[in-house]
This record gives sequence, C-alpha cells and structure tokens, in this order.
Amino acid sequence: MRVLAIAVKRPLSLLKRLARRAMLLLAFRLHRCGIQLLVTARRLIRLTERHTIDATSDLFVMGLPRLHQRIRHELALQRREYDSYAYFYGYPYQALAILNVFGKRGTEERFDAYDLARMIRSDDHLLDIGCNCGFMALYAAFRTGCRADGIDINPYMINIGRYCVEFLRLQERVRLLAQPFQSYKPDQPYTVVLSFATHWTDDGNYRVRLQDHLLRIHGLMAEGGLLIFESHSADVGNPEFYAALEGMRTHFSWDERRLMAKGTRELYLMRRVDA
Ligand SMILES: C[S@@+](CC[C@H](N)C(=O)[O-])C[C@H]1O[C@@H](n2cnc3c(N)ncnc32)[C@H](O)[C@@H]1O
Repeated sequence: MRVLAIAVKRPLSLLKRLARRAMLLLAFRLHRCGIQLLVTARRLIRLTERHTIDATSDLFVMGLPRLHQRIRHELALQRREYDSYAYFYGYPYQALAILNVFGKRGTEERFDAYDLARMIRSDDHLLDIGCNCGFMALYAAFRTGCRADGIDINPYMINIGRYCVEFLRLQERVRLLAQPFQSYKPDQPYTVVLSFATHWTDDGNYRVRLQDHLLRIHGLMAEGGLLIFESHSADVGNPEFYAALEGMRTHFSWDERRLMAKGTRELYLMRRVDA
C-alpha cells in the first residue's frame, strides 16, 4: 500500500513542479510585457507634453528596459554557469517593486512589515548576510540613508543587485560582495545586522550550527548593535531551534518573537550584549 502511495505521489509532485515552473515562466513573461507597457505609456506622455518633457525627465521609466536586459542576461548566465542550487527556479528570491524587479519575496513589503524604518537610523552601518540580490540592504539605504553592505555567495544575484544600486545611484552607500559569509572579514563593526532566512541554506553552501552562526555575527557587531533575525519556516515550532536560541542569551538579549509571513516565519530583534 505504502509503495503504491509513493508511486502515485512522486509523479504528482513532479507534475506540480512542472506546473509551477510553467506558471512562473508565464508570470516572468507577463512582467516583461508590463515593463514594455510602462515605457509605451511614458512615450505617449512625452509625445503630448513635448514642450516640457525630454529624455532626462523620465529616466526612471525609460531606463528600465536596459536595466532589465542586464538582469535577464545575468539570469541566463546563472542558468548556464552556476553549479549550485538556484533559488526560486532561477529567478531572484527577492523582488524590488521600485525598479519592477521580478522575484519571490517583496522587499518593500517585508521592510514595512518588519518595521525596519523605525529600527534603522541614517548613521547606522548595516550588514545583510546571505543578501541574495541585496535588495534589503539597498532599500534600507534608500529609505533611511544608512550605509549598507550585503554579502552573498551567488555572484549572479549580487550582479543583479549591483545594477540596481547603480541605477538608483547608491554606490557611495551600498556595497554588495559575492563571497561566502564564512570567510568574510570586515574592517569595522556593524551597528545593524540582518540575517534573513539564511542561517542554514537550502543550496547546501552554509550549514553551520545556529549557535556558531550567531557567535560569528556577534563578533562582527558593535556593542549594543541590533541583529534582526528571520527564521526559516521549518524552525517554527521546532524545539531544537528554540533551545539553540535560548543558549545564546549570554550574547544577545531579546524580548518577544513576532510571527510573520502568515505565521510561517519568526522575527527576532536581538541586542548584542558583551559575553
Ligand atoms: C533563502 S535565501 C535568503 C535571501 C535573503 N536573506 C532574504 O531573506 O531575502 C538564502 C541566500 O543565502 C545565500 N547563501 C548560501 N550560502 C551562503 C554563504 N555561505 N555565504 C553567503 N551567502 C550564502 C544564497 O545564495 C541565497 O541568496
């Protein structure tokens, strides 16, 4: 009976995967058409307002096709060359609405849901670990004026982030680095660190104990610095996860955990304390 159940389940899950892939491809193509439509609409405005509008007045729309061409090129390179697991069927894990970047998790929405504007100040120096395209770092700098570094092992996602940083002219304040977190040695401590869904990664490129991850972060932070930590879905309700966290009370202090993303993730605001 069990063998039969497995035999039925496997093709079903394969079918589901294929259907998801096809739907995402369709969504990606529709998204691309959307950008073309934006440009066409803008062209019509230009035409009717010839006396006031020229190429410099609508750069943020007219520049999008070139930006998105660079992003598509980077995704194609990733498909061809990256020998690691690519998240979200090879599309960016993060979306960025202000530049119409297609992706799974909305940056602006997460930024607001986590109330980051209230926690990050303009004089902060922020590190985003396993930052994917670095959109959270970029957007934090954009919204709050802080300086932000993002680090991710995937060079294609980092390049996409860099194109967006360039587009928004944030190069002076946002630095995105393609390297493993394990070997990262910054020259100054950070006042804010983001560790979002990244203390143990599905691609197998970061498999350390939660305690070691947090200890490493502790070592990179300024005294009294703030760690904003987002769990994975699998951590929610897992006693081992909670026990490991509790064991870190000597290094961080925190009050509550917040349930986010329809209750599938937890968010912790942890203050670094001297161990
Ligand atoms: C689930 S995604 C989370 C992305 C981002 N933190 C967010 O929540 O939007 C995990 C990210 O960790 C990155 N990653 C995996 N191993 C890494 C490592 N050793 N060092 C740095 N980044 C790593 C992956 O490339 C991927 O972008």
